[in-house]
Amino acid sequence: MPLDRKPAPNDLRAFWMPYTANRQFKSAPRMLVASKDMHYTASDDRQILDGTAGLWCCNAGHCRPRITEAVQKQVAELDYAPAFQMGHPLAFELANRIVDIAPDGMEHVFYCNSGSEAVDTALKIALAYHRARGDASRTRLIGRERGYHGTGFGGISVGGIVNNRRHFGTLLAGVDHMPHTHLPENVFTKGQPEHGANLADELERIVALHGAETIAAVIVEPMAGSTGVLMPPKGYLQRLRDITRKHGILLIFDEVITGFGRLGSPFAAQHFGVIPDMITCAKGLTNGVIPMGAVLATAQIHDAFMQGPEHMIELFHGYTYSGNPISCAAALATLDTYAEEGLLTRAADLEIYWQEALHGLRDHPNVIDIRNMGLIGAVELAPITGEPGKRAFDVFVKAFEAGILIRVTGDIIALSPPLIISEAQIDELIGTLGQVLKQAA
Ligand SMILES: Cc1ncc(COP(=O)(O)O)c(C=O)c1O
Repeated sequence: MPLDRKPAPNDLRAFWMPYTANRQFKSAPRMLVASKDMHYTASDDRQILDGTAGLWCCNAGHCRPRITEAVQKQVAELDYAPAFQMGHPLAFELANRIVDIAPDGMEHVFYCNSGSEAVDTALKIALAYHRARGDASRTRLIGRERGYHGTGFGGISVGGIVNNRRHFGTLLAGVDHMPHTHLPENVFTKGQPEHGANLADELERIVALHGAETIAAVIVEPMAGSTGVLMPPKGYLQRLRDITRKHGILLIFDEVITGFGRLGSPFAAQHFGVIPDMITCAKGLTNGVIPMGAVLATAQIHDAFMQGPEHMIELFHGYTYSGNPISCAAALATLDTYAEEGLLTRAADLEIYWQEALHGLRDHPNVIDIRNMGLIGAVELAPITGEPGKRAFDVFVKAFEAGILIRVTGDIIALSPPLIISEAQIDELIGTLGQVLKQAA
């Protein structure tokens, strides 16, 4: 073991790990001790090819010098500045830089520390926006089945993944859900599926049920990631936009995964040509290096709050670490890295290569669907009868042993490598996964 590497701890009891099978992990730990560009180093010194950009966040790869140095410099210069009633220059600079690459119309940025907080922030802004305009009966929030919007009470209420909801009581009142967009007739589609735009019309049914004047906002992931990578059917998002606009309902795109280049455009809204009223983002904003999230909002939303006495706080919301200097420094250096290396559009260049490699797994054992877009993909496996999730979890463990990091949710393998991946590394990732699928059969 290299001298500068700490040995793995042998007492793992105290740390209650998030979204983890704790007992399984602690009986056979998978420890990462270093990272560089496309690779992690495991505690046994093996190089692991990162097929997931960490957790959909390290879009520029790992330990990029510009970002590391920016954080080191900032922490020595201005470590923290109060977020309320005080400012520091980087927060303003960053907001402008985000607006520069955001879809037209997104003119304001509210900072938080994670995707979950971004979602709660956007939902609260939606409610307060209608109230500020004298439309206080608009209190309902509409999400979608299989949606993932983080783990706050707002996010799990509008979210639609049953295990994230059923253990936690009654959740927020006044929430309804549209159907998910995963249709059997779209199986093995390359890119955006043909069928399912009409599922957006379900929003009309919900409007007819509750009355448009009671609905504040609809929130969807433009491409649903965490539930297992579900693409929006062609025309679906535009229909949602048309229906929400017709009824005065705000449309929120949760771009915590799709933001910062995942689909080949800075944001999915640009990729699909559909502009919502708010966008949530996090993850790739700082390349995953320091926690940070943000809500982007139109001038119409922001300006609705800018009334009343000028000494009064306009929005009673914020976090101790909203726009903290170190996150801002990391984000600015991240945006510089993305710009310098063309990473926000690189997924578009690699999309076909990625797609063909991924769909090459079609005839592998137990593969029942493959989906892809930009630099994201999913391989869905047939569940083992009576043991949902087990087949994919076994593949995940074997894949790690074979030197690749993948992510599984249920029996779906999700892949989202850093946007710096080379074609040879795509071959290695998919080739190794193919071998593991055969071994695991
Ligand atoms: C679409 C979406 N929203 C929200 C979140 C929550 O983000 P965080 O884990 O940073 O709270 C995620 C995380 O994967 C996500 O994919």
